[in-house]
Amino acid sequence: MAAYPTGVAVVTAFDRELTPWGMTVSSLSSVSLDPPTLLVCLRHLSPTLDALVHNGSFTVNLLHDGARSAAELFSSGDPSRFDRISWEKPESVGGPHLVDDAHAAADCEVDHMHRTGTHVVVFGKVTRVVHRSAAQPLLYGLRQYASWPRSA
Ligand SMILES: Cc1cc2nc3c(=O)[nH]c(=O)nc-3n(C[C@H](O)[C@H](O)[C@H](O)COP(=O)(O)O)c2cc1C
Repeated sequence: MAAYPTGVAVVTAFDRELTPWGMTVSSLSSVSLDPPTLLVCLRHLSPTLDALVHNGSFTVNLLHDGARSAAELFSSGDPSRFDRISWEKPESVGGPHLVDDAHAAADCEVDHMHRTGTHVVVFGKVTRVVHRSAAQPLLYGLRQYASWPRSA
């Protein structure tokens, strides 16, 4: 899929001790407008997936093009990833919001899940969307990050 460019998001959730978890994803897709539903595909051994399953809710943080280091941090497996960025707890259901790195965040309740091979497809019903800035989205394709071209 390297030749199919996408945006970049960080899926976050809290575990039962309210410890924050999160991972970089490009498998995000819109599914339905009514009810507003999206999906992400997460590796089945992921601690972020464990937290999301336990909590029944998660947040999709859409990264802006100044957030490459956050995308790298959340794909690194670093156990202290949340000590190295700014985040806050959402008002209601969901996972941590990445306050400096996301241009928007969608809080979701888990609707249903489907295991296929190494990954679990998680369908989330969107309960709230927070727009943080008008920054351009971060892009990923051909195994590298990119920015949306500026118009002349
Ligand atoms: C740009 C990019 C997109 C990624 N997309 C996904 C994805 O959609 N699903 C997935 O399971 N892993 C994806 N990964 C890999 C995870 O971010 C990585 O395995 C991470 O360490 C998983 O976190 P965890 O330890 O909490 O599971 C992606 C990595 C990068 C760099």
